[in-house]
Amino acid sequence: MELYKLKRGGALAVTLIIILCLSFWYHSAPNKIMAPKKLIMLSEKEPEAQRTNMTMNFKIPTENPKIASQIQREVDEIVNQIESMITKVELLHKDNTTCAEKSKATIVNPKTSYCVGDNLVVQVDVFDYLGNRKTYGGDYLRARISTKELNAGASGKIEDFHNGTYHVHFTLYWEGKIDLSILLKHPSEAVSVLWNTRNSWYGYVDYSGKFTNQNQQTETKCGFDLNKSEELCEYNDERDEEYFYCMKPPSYECDMLTETKSWTSGRSKLTELEATLFDKSSLRVEIPKDFQPVIVTSCNNNTDRKKHEKCGIGMKLEYPSGHFMNNVWIPHACSMKSNHNLEELNACMQGKVIYILGDSTLRQWMLYFQSKLNDMTILNLYESGWAQKIWGIDLKRNMRVSWKRHANPFISSSYQSFREERTIPREIDLIGGHDKTVIVLNIGCHFRSYPVHHYIRRLVNIRRALVRLFRRSPETKVILKTENLSAISNSYEINSDFHGFVHYFVFKLIFKDLNVGFVNGWDMTNAFDAKEVHPPPEYIQNEIDLFMTYIC
Ligand SMILES: *[C@@H]1O[C@H](CO)[C@@H](O)[C@H](O)[C@H]1NC(C)=O
Ligand SMILES: *[C@@H]1O[C@H](CO)[C@@H](O)[C@H](O)[C@H]1NC(C)=O
Ligand SMILES: *[C@@H]1O[C@H](CO)[C@@H](O)[C@H](O)[C@H]1NC(C)=O
Ligand SMILES: *[C@@H]1O[C@H](CO)[C@@H](O)[C@H](O)[C@H]1NC(C)=O
Ligand SMILES: *[C@@H]1O[C@H](CO)[C@@H](O)[C@H](O)[C@H]1NC(C)=O
Ligand SMILES: *[C@@H]1O[C@H](CO)[C@@H](O)[C@H](O)[C@H]1NC(C)=O
Repeated sequence: MELYKLKRGGALAVTLIIILCLSFWYHSAPNKIMAPKKLIMLSEKEPEAQRTNMTMNFKIPTENPKIASQIQREVDEIVNQIESMITKVELLHKDNTTCAEKSKATIVNPKTSYCVGDNLVVQVDVFDYLGNRKTYGGDYLRARISTKELNAGASGKIEDFHNGTYHVHFTLYWEGKIDLSILLKHPSEAVSVLWNTRNSWYGYVDYSGKFTNQNQQTETKCGFDLNKSEELCEYNDERDEEYFYCMKPPSYECDMLTETKSWTSGRSKLTELEATLFDKSSLRVEIPKDFQPVIVTSCNNNTDRKKHEKCGIGMKLEYPSGHFMNNVWIPHACSMKSNHNLEELNACMQGKVIYILGDSTLRQWMLYFQSKLNDMTILNLYESGWAQKIWGIDLKRNMRVSWKRHANPFISSSYQSFREERTIPREIDLIGGHDKTVIVLNIGCHFRSYPVHHYIRRLVNIRRALVRLFRRSPETKVILKTENLSAISNSYEINSDFHGFVHYFVFKLIFKDLNVGFVNGWDMTNAFDAKEVHPPPEYIQNEIDLFMTYIC
């Protein structure tokens, strides 16, 4: 199927659009004009219709179409939902923003003793730097309970009353002395800023494309948002309404684009005043508590020890969904087999074809398999850079497991083949599927630097691809991993977990009713409190154990 349309842009564009409207024959010319966005879409029930020339003829490009496509409507609806969740506040002075140190956390209905399984509610009242009570919500908080000596931890759920008061709901899952921690990750004023800056431009990431003609090469600027008055090559996925451009190098054809790379530009969209909200001292600050760690005993209550059914595909995505104990993940709704040994791993992988499509956090799964499965060989695919695809093959067990990056946007500063670049929906479309097929997906971190509609559109398209897959092959197993929390970093503007929080919301909304298995990385990294750049092996082991529980 033809994925990319080539376009000659520039001042010619308007003229050519007119020609296009008049001339039927123009559609067979090699370079075509395509509208950059909002083309009228075809129903996903008839993917073949897009290949007919009828649809081509009637999709006259327009910058301002009257009828939004189905995809566009879905995207807009979700953007509006998030929009309505975010508290919009004007920033006058840092003094008027939420100050963790001046805020306080108290236990609602404290008890003298607690039993395993009890719920504990903590009220958080927030104040600004001047000590004034805040009268609106929207602060981005993070809550966790833990017992360090036991390597135990779990997430808490936050309820925002939008009046400066929050309730954090915890369940006391284990016996012992449990610490509660509530961090103010960003004041609502910073959340507002993050939401606006992210959605206002494309300047956080720069792209370069390499064009190749025999032994000649040249590099040019690429991106989602290039100056339309230049002559551009346009790389379209019309069905999925995804667009990407490169400046057309003189004397190269558009289809000579062979490789692309991208990197964070270091540019900022923050004003001086806004930047004060992101200095180290005002990020991830603990909110003072007027209480001690709580002591939890079993109270001879063994009801929580009751045997759950095995974690399986089709179970809901929940938060919190479990807790760590001795660094082992214990899901609440189902039971998971922990610490698979090599024999079990090999037995589980026997005969399977496993496609892992995602970012570096799923690449960690691949590396885990690589380190454990001693009969698996890694093929040399003659690529380079950390984002190269990985194929592992175990001939004895007729097993293949592969990792491939989820494609643009995928920030990787070494050149990667553009010819083999395919989005997850396009990859899924190429998989026939059967009961030995397993697909594992994750996507998120690399979208944090772009307007959110890119992420939503990709997820909508992944969902459509999964619906098509399950129609042809209901027995194919699909496992979806949610984004992980980011380690502490400097570039909050683009890496903030608030962006990840928005992504989690979108992810849940779009995939909640699919028959898939979830690995809740968002919950698990919070509960584990991973501080490394990438979570350590004992953490990954738990994600893999959950995965194995699903597929074996
Ligand atoms: C394209 O149009 C021509 C002439 O109208 C027709 O014969 C041909 O079948 C069409 N192709 C497709 C794929 O529909
Ligand atoms: C905001 O902060 C400024 C500077 O400290 C202060 O003068 C002003 O009274 C504050 N405004 C409100 C509404 O608290
Ligand atoms: C026992 O634990 C369950 C939750 O696991 C809780 O609902 C119940 O109230 C507890 N019973 C007692 C007597 O503490
Ligand atoms: C905020 O709203 C909640 C729920 O309506 C209420 O319990 C709480 O007292 C309110 N806080 C303030 C400061 O008004
Ligand atoms: C876009 O390109 C045209 C022609 O090169 C140039 O005149 C114009 O200033 C550019 N616009 C922007 C926003 O860079
Ligand atoms: C989550 O993954 C991203 C990369 O995909 C990484 O930058 C980040 O540090 C990870 N977070 C944790 C807690 O490991």
